[in-house]
Amino acid sequence: MPIDIDPADLIDPHHYGVSGQPHGTWTRLRESSPVHRCEVEGFEPFWAITRHADIMEISGKPDLFSNTAGPVILNDRQLAQRRDDESAFASMRTIIEMDPPEHRDFRKVASGFFTPRSIHRLDEIVEECAREQIDKLGEEGECDFVEAIAQRHPLRVLANIVGIAREDEDKVLELTQQLFGAEDPELQRAGEDRDEAIKELGLEFYNLFNAVIEDRRANPRDDLASLIANAKLKDGSPMGPLETFGYYLIVFTAGHDTTRNAISGGMQALLENPDQLELLCKDPDLAQKAVEEIVRWTSPVNYMRRKVLADTDLHGQKIPKGDDLVMFYCSANRDDSVFDRPFEFDITRHPNRHLGFGTGEHFCLGAHVARLSSRALFRELATRLEYAEPTAPASWIESSFVVGLKHLPMRYKIRPAA
Ligand code: HEM
Repeated sequence: MPIDIDPADLIDPHHYGVSGQPHGTWTRLRESSPVHRCEVEGFEPFWAITRHADIMEISGKPDLFSNTAGPVILNDRQLAQRRDDESAFASMRTIIEMDPPEHRDFRKVASGFFTPRSIHRLDEIVEECAREQIDKLGEEGECDFVEAIAQRHPLRVLANIVGIAREDEDKVLELTQQLFGAEDPELQRAGEDRDEAIKELGLEFYNLFNAVIEDRRANPRDDLASLIANAKLKDGSPMGPLETFGYYLIVFTAGHDTTRNAISGGMQALLENPDQLELLCKDPDLAQKAVEEIVRWTSPVNYMRRKVLADTDLHGQKIPKGDDLVMFYCSANRDDSVFDRPFEFDITRHPNRHLGFGTGEHFCLGAHVARLSSRALFRELATRLEYAEPTAPASWIESSFVVGLKHLPMRYKIRPAA
């Protein structure tokens, strides 16, 4: 029996801007059509994958489900732009667009830096940054939590990792917002053709990171920026200039908006569930479990696309070679065959087998950094927050790929640091 859903809810950035993530549609799909063919005017057609077990299976078979077409379902305008793009950036590929064995070779360049043991070196800067952010709020007042805290905290942490100087942070923030908000009229670069704007943004990022690359080649240090700038691949050859630039870009852009959206969505969930906020304030050590629940609840990376490399069968659906699958992590994270009370926000949830960081070959490279920095921020808040409440409804970014809040207005009272 055909299922009555509007597939545009799943992919159209405008729908996300109006009503956030489409939980009703996902629930119906998980129940009745877990592998569902979607045709949405203006977008490439795709199969929506909504169950936890199916995403686990697909992610475990990178030889059959490929990343080389890129992670995002494109609209007609983006497809045309890609076809016509003759700039040097058109041929740039980053690790999220590679399959094994090439992917493993490139991922290895940075994976040693991102292990839990190695990122301990960031403990101090992350804690100091969290303290600074909360200090900035003063003792009481009103703020937009997204602008004041959620976007600033990951920016400082990532800028440190990829070697961006403090004085360039504002510039980088502006570029990142324009790049990820390219579909959102409030965030996109003003007064310009969107495709031109994206090309220009690429060039500005290139100039910025090139300065870092040159510096770290001349003066290598014990940091990730130096590791990428001086990397050698398995065969001993250096990475090409575009690949080196692409590495900085993927680490920075994959790390910033995702963590910002987890932090702002986490704060919103705590405001909407005062018992959970109270629990966290009573026991700040719960921050670790709370962050896992926040990533499950918010799922800032809404989906990843995979291209099918050979005719295949999923739940009796014949999927021809060349078709695209879209794995909706946020849907998997509310799958009641894995999560008890999936629609309850529970910061003590254990176990919490969420797929917010993906799974398998492309499992989020920066997951431990995201955990470390979000944990530090919520811990600092938990120890100092006396009171908080929303002052107006939150609003959503017009984006269906990296999803989250654009504004979260709130009123608060904070204790000074101990
Ligand atoms: C809460 C914050 C974050 C979330 C929810 C998130 C989520 C994800 C997801 C779902 C993937 C794809 C996984 C897959 O295909 O199986 C991914 C990949 C990636 N993430 Fe994250 N991420 C976050 C933060 C970060 C941070 C802080 C960094 C860098 C410091 C980062 C760097 C990357 C990179 C480089 C990849 C590509 C990995 C590959 O292709 O091998 N992410 N992330």
